Amino acid sequence: MSTDPLVVFTPSGKRGHFPAGTPILTAARQLGVDLDSVCGGRGICSKCQIQPSFGEFPKHGLTSSEGALSEWNSVEQRYKDKRGLIDGRRLGCQATVQGDIVIDVPPESQVHRQVVRKAASAREMIMDPAVRPYYVEVDEPDMHTPTGDLERLATALKDQWDIESVTAGMSVLRKLQPTLRKGKWTCTVVLHKGHQDSEHRILDIYPGYDETRLYGLAIDLGSTTIAAHLTDLRNGTVVASSGIMNPQIRFGEDLMSRVSYSMMNPGGDVEMTTAVRTALNALTDTLSAEAEIQPSQIMEAVFVCNPVMHHLLLGIDPVELGQAPFALATSKSLSLHVADLDLTCMNPAARVFILPCIAGHVGADAAAVALSEAPGEQEELTLVVDVGTNAEILLGNTTQTLACSSPTGPAFEGAQISSGQRAAPGAIERIEIDPATKEPRFQVIGSDTWSDEDGFDAAIATTGVTGICGSGIIEAVAEMRMAGLLDAKGLIGSPEQTGTPRSIPEGRTHSYVIYDGTADGGPLITVTQTDIRAIQLAKSALYAGARLLMDEMGTDTVERVVLAGAFGAHISPKHAMVLGMIPDVPLDKVTSAGNAAGTGARMALCSVEARASIEKTVREITKVETAIEPKFQEHFVNANAIPHATDPFTILRSIAPLPDVSFNTGGSGDGGRRRRRSR
Ligand code: FES
Repeated sequence: MSTDPLVVFTPSGKRGHFPAGTPILTAARQLGVDLDSVCGGRGICSKCQIQPSFGEFPKHGLTSSEGALSEWNSVEQRYKDKRGLIDGRRLGCQATVQGDIVIDVPPESQVHRQVVRKAASAREMIMDPAVRPYYVEVDEPDMHTPTGDLERLATALKDQWDIESVTAGMSVLRKLQPTLRKGKWTCTVVLHKGHQDSEHRILDIYPGYDETRLYGLAIDLGSTTIAAHLTDLRNGTVVASSGIMNPQIRFGEDLMSRVSYSMMNPGGDVEMTTAVRTALNALTDTLSAEAEIQPSQIMEAVFVCNPVMHHLLLGIDPVELGQAPFALATSKSLSLHVADLDLTCMNPAARVFILPCIAGHVGADAAAVALSEAPGEQEELTLVVDVGTNAEILLGNTTQTLACSSPTGPAFEGAQISSGQRAAPGAIERIEIDPATKEPRFQVIGSDTWSDEDGFDAAIATTGVTGICGSGIIEAVAEMRMAGLLDAKGLIGSPEQTGTPRSIPEGRTHSYVIYDGTADGGPLITVTQTDIRAIQLAKSALYAGARLLMDEMGTDTVERVVLAGAFGAHISPKHAMVLGMIPDVPLDKVTSAGNAAGTGARMALCSVEARASIEKTVREITKVETAIEPKFQEHFVNANAIPHATDPFTILRSIAPLPDVSFNTGGSGDGGRRRRRSR
């Protein structure tokens, strides 16, 4: 048994014997303990901070006395005087082993620190970014053994950091010589190494030891909106987030209309590519300004997007995605240079990583949701729906994961709805309808006061009531169904049938008045029969997609539903179920995952391991193509009813009233005939 002192590291529990005089950083490295260092043990960076513990540790079988570490030295004192060091902390590269000792590595000194995720079901996020800074001391040039500065830098990285091979682009080569001389042959090099790369790339170089923070962008490129999170690559913190409308909307609201634009207009794809890249540069600019950082500090961008957005971002004509067999140019993940995408508002050597697509209709955004929500790691059969203009649907448990995409259209986002609007102050987002009086009460975004409460007029004085947002329209339709204003087929009853003057004729159908501000020059906000139809189409597409995956899995039920997407965060589970958007499960089994695609993008940005993991998951996912599956149509038709024509929704019926009304005959016969024709 070794007589050398025993060193035990917590929280890892790794332990080993080391000769007296061994620096703690060296001991950590030999044991594979996760202890950070940028300066390579020179006492400059303070990333190697450790917390020694003294006393008796029966659990570890050792007793540690004050002399178990070398004395506090001048390097530590200098660092403490200049930058401050928490009492009790030591620099791991300066303190050496003198006796048995327990060493705690605090989270901020761990390279692969864990970032806690909010959703209970979600996996932890481990920091393992592709981009890292390294401090090196480079040999000066020597006439007798002539070598280039880059070659001597590469030698220094190999000798001091065991980094075998590096490459550098022109932006680095141009600044290499002045930087090395300015730093007196010391420099901080920013290196990038993706999980599939065999060598490191030098992205940037600063003179001397440099603490410049490095950032990355996690971008969820949707057909309607583009959301980006500027993320600190040291700790995964989002320092600024921003979203803009996708400017491609002017070429077509949904994906297929953009594909058609490309088919019908020579060069249309190039126009759309230019539009989105210009918007991305503007968005990046906004984020840098907001976070008060230099664009050159942004070292990497990770994208998640659906297949059409994916191709248009890459400058690939999406025409093949508009027709069976929906072939992608590539479904694999991509590692690119920013210049490949004309992204100019980042470091000129920055990298881009695009998550893999699952199939021709199921994109990298669904892959990101799979990474974030990990249905394939759940014991319970979990349905994950990411509701947007297209719904990405995943169904899985530990045995198998299936995925499909369903064309819900923009109705859930308030588009194609007569009083619909984006979720903005003034938009109705919550609605309740009294089943006895048929009177509504509502809340608008920007105020917590209900419309029938004192102070409502004052609360909305600045915003007014302007329309209904996506979550509002879902609540409105579900509340109308529960109040008996709407029958199972989706017909709005006449005033005689419903007993309320809020039902008003609209052509040969009826509309329900939620808010009448016309007396004061405001809007008349109604839910029309056409609105109901648009919602029925959207929810039928969503439910039919889910049912298709359930068929494939050989089940009629799921155990858990996760609503993802920014919009998913605002949907009331009960109302979504009354509408029949999602299968019948207990309400406490319906959870919201927020922007899961964006979270998946952040996870991939912060961890190369996560990138490898999603590539493996995507290879294993069973893809189901809704567009060519004959059963889809049958499921779609059955799902037109509210909540459903054939599925019993037993759990829902036990908690929500679904009056057995029918407005197909009688006073609103016109409406009924019109509906039958339109079907
Ligand atoms: Fe940099 Fe210790 S490793 S200060």
